[in-house]
Amino acid sequence: MSVEQRSRRISVTDIGARKNQAPLVCLTAYTTPIAKLLDPHCDILLVGDSLGMVIYGMENTLSVTVDMMIAHGAAVQRGSRSSCLVVDLPFGSYEASPLQAFTTASRILSETGCAAVKLEGGMEMAETIAFLTQRGIPVMGHVGLMPQSVNTAGGFRAHGKKEEEALKIIKDAEAVADAGAFACVIEGTMESVARTLTEKLSIPTIGIGASATCDGQILVTDDLLGLFSDFTPKFVKKYCELAPVIEEAVAGYARDVKDRSFPQAEHCFGMIKERAVS
Ligand code: KIV
Repeated sequence: MSVEQRSRRISVTDIGARKNQAPLVCLTAYTTPIAKLLDPHCDILLVGDSLGMVIYGMENTLSVTVDMMIAHGAAVQRGSRSSCLVVDLPFGSYEASPLQAFTTASRILSETGCAAVKLEGGMEMAETIAFLTQRGIPVMGHVGLMPQSVNTAGGFRAHGKKEEEALKIIKDAEAVADAGAFACVIEGTMESVARTLTEKLSIPTIGIGASATCDGQILVTDDLLGLFSDFTPKFVKKYCELAPVIEEAVAGYARDVKDRSFPQAEHCFGMIKERAVS
């Protein structure tokens, strides 16, 4: 459906109905201007806690706060009108109890206007997902490579190469779906695991580094634009290289300022000519 045909935002129910249909197009967004550019092309805009690394230069996502997620979630809400808006629950804001998760998620929903929250975790988070969904908070799950578990999972690495790990991912995603999540991100795992999950689950699977067998795909926008250069995961396809374009533009500006060729007359304000009083 083109954006002109969309008279309202895509809802979580619409997303659920896209199981086994045309693939869901999903991207991360953190700011109003980028959200405006992505919105016409996306089914889901995710305000991911990856913003800690991408926007704030943090080493991982563990220091991202609820206030940061709310500020960026509200910015993306203002910049979008048709995509389904999902905001991540940051590390430490939901794992302690279903009540803690409800308190955080309800604040994020009311202060950003998003449609749903995403949280990382499988079987251990099932009770919390059920608690939230039964109380009016739609939840997107996230299993496989879970960046918030970087310290216990042995770094950012693919998961499910060993059979035991693959079976755990499958059980995790099943628990997330059974608990009432409307969709589930499957990150950094084998094609066979993603295929099994996409066949087994009744909710859409959204892959990132999990093969084209998923019901949809998501990438970190700054990765696909070639803006984030700290490292590029194997599963990223860069659709352009914006970093050198920006560097060239800024170097041009610096050159012009130094040799005084900027600003020119067209960039300056003129005086209004007043009639001479005799
Ligand atoms: O934080 C994030 O951006 C994410 C996506 C990469 C799925 O969780």
